Amino acid sequence: MKNKTTLGLSVFFFLLSLAAVTSDLAADRRALIALRDGVHGRPLLWNLTAPPCTWGGVQCDAGRVTALRLPGVGLSGPLPIAIGNLTQLHTVSFRFNSLTGPIPPDFANLTLLRYLYLQGNAFSGEIPSFLFTLPNVIRINLAQNKFSGSIPVNVNSANRLATLYLEDNQLTGPIPEIKIPLQQFNVSSNQLNGSIPDQLSGMPKTAFEGNSLCGKPLAACSVTVAGNGTDTTGKGKSDKLSTGAIVGIVIACVLGLILLLLLLFCLCRKKKKKENNVESRNIEPAPAPASSAKETSTVANVPPPVATPSSGAPASKDLTFFVKSFGQFDLDGLLKASAEVLGKGTFGSSYKASFDRGLVVAVKRLRDVVVPEKEFREKMQALGSVSHVNLVTLIAYYFSRDEKLVVFEYMSRGSLSALLHGNKGSGRSPLNWETRAGIALGAARAISYLHSRDATTSHGNIKSSNILLSESYEAKVSDYCLAPMISPTSTPNRIDGYRAPEVTDVRRISQKADVYSFGVLILELLTGKSPTHQQLSEEGVDLPRWVSSITEQQSTSDVFDPELTRYQDGDNENMIRLLKIGISCTAQYPDSRPSMPEVTRLIEEVSRSSGSPGPLSD
Ligand SMILES: *[C@@H]1O[C@H](CO)[C@@H](O)[C@H](O)[C@H]1NC(C)=O
Ligand SMILES: *[C@@H]1O[C@H](CO)[C@@H](O)[C@H](O)[C@H]1NC(C)=O
Ligand SMILES: *[C@@H]1O[C@H](CO)[C@@H](O)[C@H](O)[C@H]1NC(C)=O
Ligand SMILES: *[C@@H]1O[C@H](CO)[C@@H](O)[C@H](O)[C@H]1NC(C)=O
Ligand SMILES: *[C@@H]1O[C@H](CO)[C@@H](O)[C@H](O)[C@H]1NC(C)=O
Ligand SMILES: *[C@@H]1O[C@H](CO)[C@@H](O)[C@H](O)[C@H]1NC(C)=O
Repeated sequence: MKNKTTLGLSVFFFLLSLAAVTSDLAADRRALIALRDGVHGRPLLWNLTAPPCTWGGVQCDAGRVTALRLPGVGLSGPLPIAIGNLTQLHTVSFRFNSLTGPIPPDFANLTLLRYLYLQGNAFSGEIPSFLFTLPNVIRINLAQNKFSGSIPVNVNSANRLATLYLEDNQLTGPIPEIKIPLQQFNVSSNQLNGSIPDQLSGMPKTAFEGNSLCGKPLAACSVTVAGNGTDTTGKGKSDKLSTGAIVGIVIACVLGLILLLLLLFCLCRKKKKKENNVESRNIEPAPAPASSAKETSTVANVPPPVATPSSGAPASKDLTFFVKSFGQFDLDGLLKASAEVLGKGTFGSSYKASFDRGLVVAVKRLRDVVVPEKEFREKMQALGSVSHVNLVTLIAYYFSRDEKLVVFEYMSRGSLSALLHGNKGSGRSPLNWETRAGIALGAARAISYLHSRDATTSHGNIKSSNILLSESYEAKVSDYCLAPMISPTSTPNRIDGYRAPEVTDVRRISQKADVYSFGVLILELLTGKSPTHQQLSEEGVDLPRWVSSITEQQSTSDVFDPELTRYQDGDNENMIRLLKIGISCTAQYPDSRPSMPEVTRLIEEVSRSSGSPGPLSD
């Protein structure tokens, strides 16, 4: 009897809890519909007969809505009171819409909220202080809006807050004291004034620029208050400090002296060595030291391709050629050729060098080469045997202590990056689908070829600025296989958009990491969005994740570059096929990514079925 009652009771409670869950989800659904009906702009195409957890941008967990992500979907107008009822939300993203008005007051009820992304809208009014009393909030991004007023002093209530981005608003007043361990902070381009709190002095300068702020890391504040130093707390500190300071100064002086002596010693030794070297080198016919003067006059106002060492030390050896068919020139001739900067890459700057007789080559000045000369020459020699129609041809290289050059074919159409993201006003013609598919295939073939040489060969630096284009828009991949020779510290440390998640040492890029970068390149080709674009990298959303967030919640064709959909004749099916290839290449785990020959085969199929002429019919 007793057992029966317990059983009956537990069934009852089970049913009750089930009912609670469904009714909560029903409440969530009502709130979502209230949001959909209350917001303006492009309509949210939610299928109301399907459960809300299947709606675009809605994510559920245990039968409740936990994340709402609607980035860049064309919403406008103010947000209605509705979202506050979605009490299980931990993530809210409305970034890059055109929303206006204040942050609705019912956001105060989102006690589980951790991530709030509202950047890139036109929200206005004061930043509500309740945001900082949400107990779980970790990231707040309100950048690029029209928020005014001052930064709430209660920021310190948000003791889990790690990221606070407020740049590009109209905030005034001072930055309050910060007592929480913020990791990311940006208030640039507002109208803030006063001094930067000490706790933020370690942040980069750019986090504060575009205001009337002073103090570390910006310029020191002009001394108006410091007066006569009767501030007691300050005095106590300064006494203690001064003892420390004296000790510090003494140690620094001693160390400095030792360093100076060491430096002098080294310099003397080096000079001796150099004299010896010069003597031995003089046996060879050294290029005239006068060349440096001549060179600057020829090169006029563009930076010279080669900075002749000021000591006038003659270069001991000349260029080493891979192919002679590009015409005869030597180092001296190269120095005298007129130069034009093409761009700054990961491995160094590139120049276009034009000779008087019409010959044009591209020169790359490698910086931070870490391998010794012997290894450099060996690696270069190995590269010399590389030859593929979709790889830029290496012409020559040069190695000296001060200068490492690689000379290669000049490509008149420039890079894919410039073509995709260049200034639209400058007569740049849009790339159509056939061209883009052709470029994807050409690049895939080149990388496949590199991978086929042996299992350890990888390109190492695949990105759109390294995909050059021939006169007929054929892909010519450049900068291949240089990564192992360059110091890893020279590559920018920030997320560069193309790098596979597992890569920790940029000198050792596996073939599967190449596949990842190539996948990002495909997504870039199709979306027209640069993976290194600030808007994307800002909140840690990379291009692959952006693409999947859009394809999950909207029609797939929304991800495509408008330029591509506007001019093409509706080959949507093949565009989606290529997009899927790109997505599969950017799988998080290396083992889930296809191999490069596999990718090439798939792209060949796509281009065959879209029947594109030209470069596609190899
Ligand atoms: C939010 O919840 C309250 C109280 O449960 C309810 O009265 C209100 O209608 C709900 N609003 C929306 C938009 O769902
Ligand atoms: C909406 O969802 C229902 C149920 O899942 C489905 O039968 C219907 O085809 C969907 N309608 C549209 C237009 O997708
Ligand atoms: C927060 O939720 C409570 C109870 O659900 C409700 O009474 C209150 O009005 C809500 N606050 C806001 C600002 O919507
Ligand atoms: C900051 O600007 C406000 C108004 O523009 C002014 O009243 C205030 O004195 C300024 N504060 C500092 C520290 O300059
Ligand atoms: C702050 O934001 C500005 C403008 O978006 C940007 O240029 C700068 O790099 C950012 N600095 C930091 C440290 O985030
Ligand atoms: C020093 O500061 C004290 C307190 O602020 C003030 O009374 C005094 O006049 C100041 N003296 C000078 C020389 O500025």
